[in-house]
Amino acid sequence: MTRWGFLATGGIATTVAGDLPLVPGARALAVASRDAGRAAAFAERHGFERSYGSYADLLADPDVDVVYVATPHGQHRAVTRAALEAGKHVLVEKSFTTTLAGAHELVDLARSRGLFAMEAMWTRFQPTVVALLDALGSGVVGEVRHVHADLGFPVPEDPSSRFHDPVQGGGALLDMGVYPVSVARMVLGAPSEVLTRGTLTSSGVDAEASLLLTHPGGATATVHTTITARPPRRGVITGTGGRVELEGVVHAPDAFVVHRPDAEPERTSLPRTGRGYAHMLEHVQECLEQGRTESPLWPLSTTLEVMGVLEEALQALGVRMDDDRPLG
Ligand SMILES: NC(=O)c1ccc[n+]([C@@H]2O[C@H](COP(=O)([O-])OP(=O)(O)OC[C@H]3O[C@@H](n4cnc5c(N)ncnc54)[C@H](OP(=O)(O)O)[C@@H]3O)[C@@H](O)[C@H]2O)c1
Repeated sequence: MTRWGFLATGGIATTVAGDLPLVPGARALAVASRDAGRAAAFAERHGFERSYGSYADLLADPDVDVVYVATPHGQHRAVTRAALEAGKHVLVEKSFTTTLAGAHELVDLARSRGLFAMEAMWTRFQPTVVALLDALGSGVVGEVRHVHADLGFPVPEDPSSRFHDPVQGGGALLDMGVYPVSVARMVLGAPSEVLTRGTLTSSGVDAEASLLLTHPGGATATVHTTITARPPRRGVITGTGGRVELEGVVHAPDAFVVHRPDAEPERTSLPRTGRGYAHMLEHVQECLEQGRTESPLWPLSTTLEVMGVLEEALQALGVRMDDDRPLG
């Protein structure tokens, strides 16, 4: 049994809590909120055995094995640091932090304590994506030369919204751009150059960003992310022998379709469990059972690479993030 502790009771904590009962060996042990009433209501609704009115109280519970950090990313560094210092394994929502320095700090801390840590990049564990990466690895479209990935939707300007508030790590790149950047990373590896153009909101976070990533060997990726417009949210992978189009949204595709000259399109779709987070939760449990401190599929070095791209893009747009945010 893996005994889970959830930190925060917001949107994604609610969704992931819905998938937790679908994971064999998962025990919904404890949830914490900044507000005891919210924690108790969440526990009642999702079958958690214990609830706490402060994050520190949950971290002091010796029965919690692994903590799922589901606060806004502006708070990830402080909350995750506290969890690691309390001796807990951690699964941290994306973006891992808001700065590369903050990410390095957490990675160093987890490694020095011998604790498991992983960014909750659930895309990587969805069966359809696993099959896609296998197919690309076996050369289904030859050598991949280009990846296009975009994600975003318009978020009305509201200074208190997580998307617009710099204190919560707002902006398109850290919230949504992290997905297309991660998809490009899954297919092409780490880029050697990042070119960025974009615009800012009146609150000073990035409203939209277009990235051109260049990889060793000259393959490229184009990434677009926005909180002001309505892009198709698609993914297309172009190789020397054809192309693969993702069906549905790029970070949770329903299927991938291989198009090759002189052949019928070939569609692959594998079912996802629940809302699709169960696969990631199960992977974390397997890692813990095997005594691993990092995921072999989404290791901390990959998270650092992705954070490096995001930070470089933010800097190019003139956005300065700060991980020293109060809990609020
Ligand atoms: N994997 C995915 O599909 C996915 C989807 C959406 C979001 N996310 C990520 O998950 C994280 C949370 O997003 P969300 O949509 O769940 O946000 P949300 O609905 O605003 O919830 C965030 C929760 O964090 C807690 N919190 C702690 N400090 C806070 C502060 N200073 N301001 C506001 N809330 C604070 C609050 O819970 P308490 O009041 O109970 O303490 C709040 O309910 C973000 O990093 C986001 O990028 C991932």
